[in-house]
Amino acid sequence: MKIKQYQRRSLSFFFLFVLLFQSCNQEHSLKPSRTGLIAEKAIVVTAREEASRIGLMMLEKGGNAFDAMVATEMALAVAFPFAGNLGGGGFMVFRMADGTTGSIDYREKAPSAAHRDMYLDEKGEVIPELSTIGAMAVGVPGTIAGVFAIHEKFGSLSIEEIFEPVIALAEKGVVVTKNQEGRLANNRGNFIKVNGEQTFFAQKFTEGDTIKYPALANTLKNIAKNGRDEFYKGETAEKIAEFIQSKGGIITLDDLASYEAIWREPIIFKYKDYKIISMAPPSSGGVTLAQVMGMLEDYELQSLGHNSPEYIQLLTEAERRAYADRNYFLGDPDFVEVPVSELISKNYLNVRMADFDPNQATKSSAIREGSIQIIESDETTHYSIVDQFGNAAAITTTLNGAYGSKLFSDELGFFFNNEMDDFSAKTGVPNMFGLIGADANAIAPGKRMLSSMTPTLVEKNGALKMVVGTPGGSTIITSVLQTILNVIEFGMSMQEAVDAPRFHHQWLPDHINFEPEGFSTEVMETLKEKGYQINEGYTPILGKVDAILVLPDGRLEGGADWRGDDKAVGF
Ligand code: GLY
Repeated sequence: MKIKQYQRRSLSFFFLFVLLFQSCNQEHSLKPSRTGLIAEKAIVVTAREEASRIGLMMLEKGGNAFDAMVATEMALAVAFPFAGNLGGGGFMVFRMADGTTGSIDYREKAPSAAHRDMYLDEKGEVIPELSTIGAMAVGVPGTIAGVFAIHEKFGSLSIEEIFEPVIALAEKGVVVTKNQEGRLANNRGNFIKVNGEQTFFAQKFTEGDTIKYPALANTLKNIAKNGRDEFYKGETAEKIAEFIQSKGGIITLDDLASYEAIWREPIIFKYKDYKIISMAPPSSGGVTLAQVMGMLEDYELQSLGHNSPEYIQLLTEAERRAYADRNYFLGDPDFVEVPVSELISKNYLNVRMADFDPNQATKSSAIREGSIQIIESDETTHYSIVDQFGNAAAITTTLNGAYGSKLFSDELGFFFNNEMDDFSAKTGVPNMFGLIGADANAIAPGKRMLSSMTPTLVEKNGALKMVVGTPGGSTIITSVLQTILNVIEFGMSMQEAVDAPRFHHQWLPDHINFEPEGFSTEVMETLKEKGYQINEGYTPILGKVDAILVLPDGRLEGGADWRGDDKAVGF
């Protein structure tokens, strides 16, 4: 108890100092103890150095953030096949140098033969693995449509120029890192199970090996030569449909031919002096982030202390309420009515937090919305770009699970997603209060599955402040939240904000996840005393945030997450 009081007092002195310092300097120029890469004009930060460098190469050639986006997205498919992809989908939120903002949705969608109960057996039970492993798990991929739509609207370099270094990388090969060795080893059994003993990734790869991707290089050459339609209507499309069907899947050539990426209005909201721009449905990211930040806005977070029990408690309670809403209300807006403005209105959020009691945990069973637990995979990837012209792009892209469905076309050289698992496989089941939830995210032909991806931009005084995002499935939203708060409330540098230990609550299961070793026993004991359940089993790292901060003098700081092989490069 004494230790706790001492810690609290020290924290109070520390934050008093921070407050005094910050009141003299609105831009939080508190001297950071650790900074990431500082660059004068441009930064690309991704999960792999090879991809960051190819993105930057576009900027060095005079291309813009969108040329760099196309190059980076494709380079991640080569250098980071764990989540980078041709066979998946994603979202980009952007801000042009003139302040115009927007976003594009290139999320996968359900094939036309998909139906609500396609993953249930005759007893109505979920068939294990059908929505996670193999061809039935695959949604119609959106990535190639996304990059071509972005290039058509904003690109300044030719597609051939952009694809050229990516194809060269695929031919030259990528060196296996220690992390990658572990990921490949962990998934090798499933690669073989889905694709057979002869599949490319049945081989064992160890750190230092170079993996060449000739089949992928060939596919990329065909796409560069014939354009977007090569993937959706051409020979590659025919091969994709034939391959997936030969493996028992239901995606047809018509499903591919009818796929379109969609430009959407982003979710824009105020938090104190900041404007936050994030992804709208079918991602839940922007709405849930807006709800949590709206519930926190009236609190003095700095005075609670960073990662103090009081701070964790407050964020947990806001997250609990927002995730309950997320599960109940959110889905593909082209199929269901999503009450976005009501969900993020200040009045509603104030009412939502009215029963918050700082002395004890609210039970998730007492929170009414929703009826199911979200189980989302955390193998996604995010990258952030600011170019020398002042354009910014936050992009999160995914295959869903690690290497998606594990279905790998040896002929085309890439993995296919298992995004169908992001739908609610079993809906209409009443929860303990008899509430029927998750209809909004039920499977329907052509529908996009709900996502948590949260590519986000932060503005202050009409100028770009931050570009941020992360993988992490349902933990994406809370990792993005904490990274933003670390900078704007606690004055951390971008790298410190990325490095700081994170925690997560998502309504159900009703427990807080803490990153390993990031939090003291005292903090956890204080929370337990108030009735919080702590996940004391295995707790993984939470997210891999790749972010960029615009410094008060206009230079940029990249934050590349130490949790992966992530790297910021710039000039
Ligand atoms: N598949 C992870 C997400 O979309 O959030």
